Amino acid sequence: MRAALAPALFAGPCCRFRPIGAYRGHASEVRTPYAAGPAWEGLPREGLAWEGRGLVPSSVRLHQMLLGAAMLVPAVLFAAAAWENHAAVWREGAALVQRTTAIMHEHARKVFETEELLLSLVDERISDMPPDAVSAPATSEFLRRVKAPLDQAVSTWIADADGAIQAGSQPWERGAEIASRDFFQQQRVADPSIQEGGTYISEAFTGRVTSVASFAISRRRTGRDGRFTGTIHVAASPAYFAQFYKQAAPPLSHLALLIRSDGAILARQPGATPGRLPPAGVLMQRIADQPAGGTFQAHLMLDGIDRMYSYRKVEAYPVYVVFGLDRKALVRRWHDNLLMYGLFAAAAAATLLGVSWLALRGAKAEEAALQDLRRESAQRLAAEDQLRHVQRMDAVGQLTGGVAHDFNNLLTVILGNLELIERAAMHLTAGSPIAAQAAVKITRLAGSAMKGVQRGAQLTRSLLAFARRQPLQPSVLDVNPLLAEFTGLVRQAVGTPVAVTFDAAPGLPPCRTDPAQLEAAVLNLAINARDAMPDGGRLRISTGTAELDCDALAGNPEAQPGRFVTICVADSGSGMAPDVLDKAFEPFFTTKPIGQGTGLGLSQVFGFARQSGGHVTLRSTPGQGTAITIYLPLNTVST
Ligand SMILES: Nc1ncnc2c1ncn2[C@@H]1O[C@H](COP(=O)(O)OP(=O)(O)OP(=O)(O)O)[C@@H](O)[C@H]1O
Ligand SMILES: [Mg+2]
Repeated sequence: MRAALAPALFAGPCCRFRPIGAYRGHASEVRTPYAAGPAWEGLPREGLAWEGRGLVPSSVRLHQMLLGAAMLVPAVLFAAAAWENHAAVWREGAALVQRTTAIMHEHARKVFETEELLLSLVDERISDMPPDAVSAPATSEFLRRVKAPLDQAVSTWIADADGAIQAGSQPWERGAEIASRDFFQQQRVADPSIQEGGTYISEAFTGRVTSVASFAISRRRTGRDGRFTGTIHVAASPAYFAQFYKQAAPPLSHLALLIRSDGAILARQPGATPGRLPPAGVLMQRIADQPAGGTFQAHLMLDGIDRMYSYRKVEAYPVYVVFGLDRKALVRRWHDNLLMYGLFAAAAAATLLGVSWLALRGAKAEEAALQDLRRESAQRLAAEDQLRHVQRMDAVGQLTGGVAHDFNNLLTVILGNLELIERAAMHLTAGSPIAAQAAVKITRLAGSAMKGVQRGAQLTRSLLAFARRQPLQPSVLDVNPLLAEFTGLVRQAVGTPVAVTFDAAPGLPPCRTDPAQLEAAVLNLAINARDAMPDGGRLRISTGTAELDCDALAGNPEAQPGRFVTICVADSGSGMAPDVLDKAFEPFFTTKPIGQGTGLGLSQVFGFARQSGGHVTLRSTPGQGTAITIYLPLNTVST
């Protein structure tokens, strides 16, 4: 596991300063000690956590859903309205067809009743008349008078038993006869199967006298002895019916028919051609099935147009009224409605879309503003945090520096006096053996005290290094050869379980620093790495260059933004927990047992880097490893 060094720490040369990761969890961490800048930006704050997760993004999502709904809802409503309207148009169409058929039925009934009344009137008048009286002009005059107010009648005629015209409402040529007409023949044979109430309705024909299209409503004349004495008939006007149908029908493509129950067409609108419906046709079949009336949809053989039909028998007469509405007309009406609905839906959708889009834009602007606010707030908190660190470390530095300086002076005095004691002891050796013995003892004790003084001096040097008061001896330095040679010493220091590698960046520019302090810093880092890998692991020392800007160097007034030489020491060790990471650079902070660490290693690295006008960053992930990078300013002084 140790060998699996964190890729983040070993990926590429340590020459790029890339603050990554987050403070909590197991993500990689970057710390710039006592400096804000990018390293601190990745650190979330407890108090800010809720802002990132909740309200605004959901509000934007809500508005996006609203935008979708603004398109979807009118479309769905339109589809529903179209569906409903389709059924409504068809319902209305059926109602219209039935209503029109009812009107036609009522009209036909009244017309036929009126014609029958006329026939009765004439019959009553001539029933007891001798033939001569019937043929008298007075009868024709009577016929003219009774027919005159009736527009539905073209003419009225009385014929004798041979079919010769005896009287008429119109003038006629002598010898005119109707013997060949179907109604005359039917009346003569008095076929009971085709007569109702003695009234017979003929097929359509063109009047011989009037030359007008007509059909006859006829009645049989019978003498006292029951013999056939002729006919009375009214020539009814198909045009009159057609005219009425035109007015009664809705302004949609249609077909109105007045037919005899055997399929003979008496009147039609539109079109004037009489004819006969085939007995096997849909209508005649329907009539056969439902003689009273009904509705159906079909292409009638007449013109092949698809229609919705209704028909009804005119009571007491062998006649039907039929009305059909063009289905295409209904579809067109539906399409017209759809167009209107579509316009409304489009207008509603456009309005909704506009409003939703504006709302979405507003929400996005709000979100962006809140993000800015959140960023600013995070930056402010980080800056405050950093300031606190800087202040604390400055205070610790000053205190440390002051104490170390005075302590150093004391050590100098102690050392001087110990040397004097040593020298004085040497004079004693010339005396008595007891004096010589005392001199040996004094020299041993002084030597031991001097070792203590040297350790104290080493300590003060570390403290002075942290306080940036260590006298440096900077020189223009090519870091690669120095570290290449020093790596050997590092190997010895860390021991064999740790594999040490050195990656030198080619063409590394020289920097300006104290080589002895640099070696001390790298050694400190290497020893820390060794301590973090008790079971062995990998230690990589690498060099490179990096650019640091003001943000990266915030809180580090000693360094100037620009290019730096980097020395990165990375290990695959235990890494640091967040609380250790926070304090790692502080003097005397150590997690090692008493006697094994003074907590001055990283302080020296920190103080040295800063005092050299450079910088230091620390990246560590618990369980994965640590990488510490020292940034040293390039040598800009020309030699
Ligand atoms: N490479 C590393 N891996 C894990 N932890 C580290 C590493 N370097 C430093 N630390 C932690 O930071 C603490 C401080 O390190 P520092 O070098 O300043 O002191 P020390 O090593 O404890 O003692 P000294 O170096 O003075 O002997 C260490 O005790 C250790 O907990
Ligand atoms: Mg150490």
